[in-house]
Amino acid sequence: MNDTLNLKNIAVIGVGGAIGRAVAEHYAGHSGVERIITFSRSRQNFTDKRIVNHTLNYYDETHLVQAANRLDHFEGMDAIFVTTGVLHNDDVVPEKSLKELTMHNFETLFRIDTIVPALLVKHFSPKLHKNRPAIMVVLTARVGSISDNRFGGWYAYRCAKAALNMFVKNASIEIKRRYRHQMIVAMHPGTVDSPLSEPYKANLDPSKVFSPAVSAAHLAKSIAGLSLEDSGKIIAWDGEEIDP
Ligand SMILES: NC(=O)c1ccc[n+]([C@@H]2O[C@H](COP(=O)([O-])OP(=O)(O)OC[C@H]3O[C@@H](n4cnc5c(N)ncnc54)[C@H](OP(=O)(O)O)[C@@H]3O)[C@@H](O)[C@H]2O)c1
Repeated sequence: MNDTLNLKNIAVIGVGGAIGRAVAEHYAGHSGVERIITFSRSRQNFTDKRIVNHTLNYYDETHLVQAANRLDHFEGMDAIFVTTGVLHNDDVVPEKSLKELTMHNFETLFRIDTIVPALLVKHFSPKLHKNRPAIMVVLTARVGSISDNRFGGWYAYRCAKAALNMFVKNASIEIKRRYRHQMIVAMHPGTVDSPLSEPYKANLDPSKVFSPAVSAAHLAKSIAGLSLEDSGKIIAWDGEEIDP
């Protein structure tokens, strides 16, 4: 985001995941960063003393309020990342065809990939810095782009991420009205070596799969190039806009 973005206090929600952890560790390498407050379902340990971790139950709104209020200790967050998101888990397998659709898959992935990030934005975006440029970043996936869908499949995940992209656009309108120097974007981290992509690794060209650290570095570079007019957009790891 234009050169006036001063990254001093950062929050990362979802550091139990590969990309969330890498984002926190990436910014720990920035000299101007003073504090990185992180959240995850289970306790995470970091060697850098500037990274603080708190556990968080994403499904308890009272807990979300309490967690967000921890940020009141600081003058305002310069960047807040939501890096949670699931494609598959113990009881959700991405659908290859219509006959595999289930209520359970849809409910589970909409809960995780749309509703949880939305509630995190609800409770955490008011903690963005009120007097200088500040950004909220929510991780999405290119496969949530309707116009970019060439292969089909992964119904619940694609739909949940498309809904998340709409949520981010909607929130950007309200956030801009509230504080004109605050913005929110949905970002695609690239294809990243993580538990999420693990089952598909065999079919991927290894040269096109980023390590979490490389993805985090790309995301940070792209964020540094954004301007307020980009609020509400879907931005890829390389800074290119992805059409909804
Ligand atoms: N890896 C890729 O190739 C790729 C590609 C495109 C988009 N993305 C997106 O990038 C984001 C991070 O993915 P990743 O690769 O880092 O995945 P990951 O290592 O598998 O991390 C999973 C993340 O989802 C959270 N999570 C797991 N189960 C959850 C549940 N039941 N409810 C709410 N949150 C839950 C975890 O939270 P805790 O931190 O609290 O454990 C963690 O932050 C996701 O939004 C994903 O869709 C990834």
